[in-house]
Amino acid sequence: MSTIDTLKDRTTPVFSPDDVTVIFVLGGPGAGKGTQCERLVARYGFAHLSAGDLLRAEQNRPDSEFGDLIRHHIRNGLIVPMEVTIALLEAAMRQILDETSTSTDAAAQGRKKGKFLIDGFPRKLDQALKFEEAVVPARFVLFYDCPEAEMERRLLERGKTSGREDDNAESIRKRFRTFIDTSMPVVDYFEKQDRVVKVDARLKPDEVFAITQKEIEKRLHL
Ligand code: C5P
Ligand code: MG
Repeated sequence: MSTIDTLKDRTTPVFSPDDVTVIFVLGGPGAGKGTQCERLVARYGFAHLSAGDLLRAEQNRPDSEFGDLIRHHIRNGLIVPMEVTIALLEAAMRQILDETSTSTDAAAQGRKKGKFLIDGFPRKLDQALKFEEAVVPARFVLFYDCPEAEMERRLLERGKTSGREDDNAESIRKRFRTFIDTSMPVVDYFEKQDRVVKVDARLKPDEVFAITQKEIEKRLHL
C-alpha cells in the first residue's frame, strides 16, 4: 500500500470532482447501508465500496502488514487509523476507474464511470477531512437514520449467518458507542455544511429505497 506514504503529505485531491462523483453513505451499524447500496448499484450502476469490506479483505490477505491491527480494531468496534482505510479506498477507486476506462463495453463504461458509493466512511472526522483534501471532495452524505434498538435487532439477526466477528452482543455494544462518540460528529460536521441527505431507515428496505431514489435522482439529475 504505497499510497500510505504519499497520503500524509498530499494536500490536493488526486481525483477531480468533474470526473469522479462520490457519495458518502453513513448510518449506524445495522442501519441498512449495505442493503441500500446494493440496490443503488443495481438501479444506477454506481460502484460500491464498503470501507468495512475493504478492511476485512485486507485483514485476510496473507501478507498484509495490517492484518492484526485491523482485526483488533474491528473486534473492539474501534476505528482503524485513517491512513489504512483511505489508502484501501483510493486503490479500489483507481482500479475501478482503470478497468472502466479500458473496457470496450460502452454501456458498462457509461454506467460506472466515476460514480462511487462509499459505504461506512468517513466514520471519524480526520477521515473526512483527509479524504476530501487528498482524494476527492464528496458530493453529499446519504445518512440512514435508525434507532439503536432496531439496529441491534437487525445485527443480532444478521449475526446468525453473517460469520462476522463483530456481530455479537459485546462487539455491537462497542460499535454503538463508537458510532455515537466518533461517527455522529462527522454527520454533524457535514450537516452544518448543508451536505446531508437524511433518510428514515426504520422502514422496510423497499420503502427506504423509494425515498433514497427520490433524493438521489433530484441531486444527481438522473
Ligand atoms: O461498516 P462495517 O460495519 O462493515 O465496519 C466494520 C468495522 O470496520 C467497524 O466497526 C470498524 O471497526 C471498521 N471500520 C473503520 N473505519 C471505517 C469503516 C469501518 O475502522 N471507515
Ligand atoms: Mg456494511
